[in-house]
Amino acid sequence: AHAGDAEAGKAKSATCAACHGADGNSLAPTFPKIAGQGERYLVKQMLDIRDGRRSVPEMVPFVSGLSDEDIADISAYFAAQAPSAGGAKEELVALGQRVYRGGIEERGIPACIACHGPNGNGIEPAMFPRLAGQHATYTVTQLNKFSMNERQNDGDTRLMRDIAYRMHATEIEAVASYIEGL
Ligand code: HEM
Ligand code: HEM
Repeated sequence: AHAGDAEAGKAKSATCAACHGADGNSLAPTFPKIAGQGERYLVKQMLDIRDGRRSVPEMVPFVSGLSDEDIADISAYFAAQAPSAGGAKEELVALGQRVYRGGIEERGIPACIACHGPNGNGIEPAMFPRLAGQHATYTVTQLNKFSMNERQNDGDTRLMRDIAYRMHATEIEAVASYIEGL
């Protein structure tokens, strides 16, 4: 595979800025922050979106013409940007932290830290995404999409779909807020 070139990627990323911000720190909470996200995870998501394994209709016009090399370069650029911090809602931190660190044993939900790390930095070699600082609105949307099988690109392992399906709405809201504050 082509090794991503962040300099080349910067030039190719101009069309992403309207939604994701020039440095990948989106302002609107429905658009994910992608600054500092793992490079291999970014490549996987862009290929999944371009090739139809993950449905993001509003992005298709911007990625359909990109080559694998373009995607590698753009991913290298966003992975190298500093992620911005977010904040948690005080009243949701206790529940959110409990779910994030310990899972929910009685419903077989594993701890999020196992894959996304204690500080939410993810595990890049395994393509487990960084979550820290992400907009809670976006995170809630993704967990709901996983639970309704509208996002299936976690693959045959069904890791995230099995987890999100068993979570209650209050737990999803709390863990998403906690994650934004990480
Ligand atoms: C999601 C990259 C252009 C709207 C994503 C994701 C990536 C990405 C990597 C997945 C993030 C994650 O899983 O954490 C890019 C790049 C672009 C681009 C590199 C330019 C080539 C755009 C534009 C828009 C847009 C122009 C708005 C018109 C969205 C939305 C999602 C998303 C709404 C999340 C959808 C969902 O709920 O699943 N983008 N994007 N993107 N992008 Fe883009
Ligand atoms: C993706 C949350 C536990 C593996 C995600 C995403 C969220 C999330 C919000 C989407 C990230 C994005 O779009 O940027 C959580 C929460 C967890 C949890 C709240 C605990 C309740 C786990 C565990 C594993 C895991 C235990 C591993 C066994 C993954 C993987 C993806 C992912 C592989 C990426 C799927 C893909 O390729 O699209 N998680 N997660 N997660 N998570 Fe988790």
